[in-house]
This record gives sequence, structure tokens and C-alpha cells, in this order.
Amino acid sequence: MDARTILTKLRDGETPTRDELQWFARGLADGGVSAAQAGAFAMAAVLNGLGEEGRLALTLAMRDSGRVLKWALDRPVLDKHSTGGVGDCVSLVLAPALAACGAAVPMISGRGLGHTGGTLDKLESIPGFQTGLDESRFRDIIGSVGCAIVSASADIAPADKRLYAIRDVTGTVESIDLITASILSKKLAAGLEGLVLDVKSGSGAFMGTEESARALARSLVEVARAAGCRTSALITDMNQPLAPEAGNALEVAASLRVLTGQVRGPLHDLTAVLGGLALAEAGLAPDIETGAGAIADSIADGRAAEVFGRMVAAQGGPVRFVEDYARFLPEANVIREIAADRAGYVSAMDVHELGLIVVRLGGGRQVEGDKVNPSVGLSDIAPLGTWVEKGQPLARVHAVRETAAAEAIATFRRAVSLSDTAPVVPDLIRKRIG
Ligand code: URA
Repeated sequence: MDARTILTKLRDGETPTRDELQWFARGLADGGVSAAQAGAFAMAAVLNGLGEEGRLALTLAMRDSGRVLKWALDRPVLDKHSTGGVGDCVSLVLAPALAACGAAVPMISGRGLGHTGGTLDKLESIPGFQTGLDESRFRDIIGSVGCAIVSASADIAPADKRLYAIRDVTGTVESIDLITASILSKKLAAGLEGLVLDVKSGSGAFMGTEESARALARSLVEVARAAGCRTSALITDMNQPLAPEAGNALEVAASLRVLTGQVRGPLHDLTAVLGGLALAEAGLAPDIETGAGAIADSIADGRAAEVFGRMVAAQGGPVRFVEDYARFLPEANVIREIAADRAGYVSAMDVHELGLIVVRLGGGRQVEGDKVNPSVGLSDIAPLGTWVEKGQPLARVHAVRETAAAEAIATFRRAVSLSDTAPVVPDLIRKRIG
């Protein structure tokens, strides 16, 4: 077998065989396939597609390019994946809530990508929190606490690691086939029995239109199920940030306010429904509504917060983090209100731009290897449909310097529209797939 033959087939619109895709994935992982060949593969896959069989074969081949974890636990091994958004800190609330409801949650998470935040970057705003655990420590924490949130080690889906970095710089991220194989190769390598997917749609999502979000959700559900993992997806709204905060430490604080029962709202409600779906799928609840109730109860009675606190301590963070999180989280030097320059309803948001504000403030990476500032971002963002008087706050910006805050305020004003009439606010949960 050789890369040129596989690439020629793909270029001519033929799907390579399962064996060929397996060979290619191995070559991605061990260097037998060059960067030029990987780039050509990605571009041909974007332009011609891999078809249903090819998509599944590539996913399995990339899963098997490294280690595939196996768990022998007395509870179901579950996880959630979101396609990425702004103010989306569901994982921080859901992982401990699922664990409190009887699941094991070995969550392998990512860093910020483009305008979206990453769970690992958020957790690393907690002093001492370690995301790079070795496998034996990861297993210990899953056994004793029930959940852990870690980065993928070098031997989890290494073919994806290499191909993803090449896609990132060759304009080949936006392919349903490649996104499916990329996301699921990592999730399946974690040895999951059940998975719920939160596929975002709207101005802050990678999949801007509802149609493309549905196509991605269908692809993910079909491939994951064919690979033996019980999976369902929700299409959810990303036309406004999920939590009213966007930024690493700010989102940890937002999650803690939900976990400690101070706040309910879209973050709480979506966590409950995604968790209910996961519990129902795993047989830990008779249906989604009962499962969502169990997740909400675990938050209301403090069990989810207690699990979160034990996870933080086990991963190197402060022992009394939950009780004292405001004291431990870093705070920005400059905090400024963004006042409305007219009265009106908050009627539309360019959420992609809001995410980029956080990145430019230093909360994400402009180039690979940038150090992330945990303290910066946006807070108290007024939700769609809110009426504000002239001069009332639309949000607060948290910055390192006054100049950065002023720039963020100007961009925020352009990204958020005010109108005289009340907008139709999209439903948070649009559709269930699977
Ligand atoms: N997240 C991934 O892990 N892979 C993609 O291709 C897109 C989003």
C-alpha cells in the first residue's frame, strides 16, 4: 500500500477501502505519511467527501492509531462532547453531576479552538489544577471520585493530533467527515459506553446554519453508534453565550454559582437535559425527564458540588475550592462596565465576535503556544430580549490594561444590537437527534 494510490483514488472521487484508511491513519501516527500527503488527503476529503462507510472507517482507524482505554467498573462510563461555543462551561457542571448520579466520567477535553473556549484552559485557572495526568492517576481518580477532566495523552488518537494540526493551517477544518472522525476517534479511544453530543447552531457555532448542525449531529450519532457507543445529540442555540460569562476564570466562577445553587438559567437547564439524556441512555434513568430531574437534584442538594470539589483536590487544586472559589480565582486588573449607548432591547449578538474579544484580551491563543491569561473576559452579559435604558450595563469587560478594555468595549458595541422592538429569542434546545 502507498499514500499516492490512496490519494489518487480520493482525488478521483472514489472512497479508499477500510484497509487503506487504516494504513493511512497508522502512517499519520508514525510519520509514514508526510505532512504534504496529509494535507492533500484532508483537502480531497473536504472536496469529495468520504461517504458514510469511509467516514466510519476513518474514525475507527484514527481511534485505533493509539491506545484505546478499557474500563472494568461497576458503573456505566459516560461522557459529553460539545462542538464548541462561547460561555459554554457545561462540562464543569455536568461531569460531577453525572458522577453524583452513578456514572463514571473519564472526560478527555480540549483547549480553546478559534473563537471558542476550552475546558482545559478554564480548569487551569484554578491554582494547582493539573490536566496532564498519567493513566494510572486518571484511573485512580475515576475510581475514587467518579470523574476527572484531563488532556489527551500523546498516545490517544495520535493520527487525529497530527491531522488536526495540518487541517488547522490548510483550510480543511470544515468537513463533516473529518470533524466526525476527529471528535469521535478521541471519544471512542476513551472507552466510553455512552455519549451525548451538544451540537451548537447559531452565530457563535462552527456550524452556522441549523441544517449543517443537523447534518453534523446525524453523522456523529450514526458513526458513534456503528462503533458500539450509545449516542444521542441535541442541537442547541449559540446565538448568545450560554452563561453570561466568557473567559476562563469567569466561566469557572459561573459554573460554581450553578453548582452551589446560587444561579439557575440556561447553563443549569442545558446541563440537566444533557445529563438526563446520558442517564436515560445508560439505563440509570427511565427517561430523559427523570434523568434531568436527577441531575437537577444532584445540583440542588450539593452532591454535584461535593464531587467537583473532590475532583479539584484530586487533580492538584485547593482542597476547599468550592467553599472559597472567589478567593482562589485570579481577577483582572481592569474591570469596566459596557454601558448601553441608547435604550432598547438586546436583539442580536455576533457571538463569534464576542468569543474573539476574549481571545484578543488574552483569554485564548492568537498563535499556537500563546500563554492564556485566566483572568480576562466578559461577564454579566445581558441576555437576548433584555430591555436596557441608555447608560445601563450591557456587560463588564475584564482586561489587563485600559487600552485592551477600551478596544473590547468598542468591539462589543459593534457585536451587540439594540432595537426598539422585542426580538424573538431562539429556543435553547432546538432538536434531538437519535
Ligand atoms: N473538534 C475536534 O476535536 N475536531 C474537529 O475537527 C473539530 C472540532
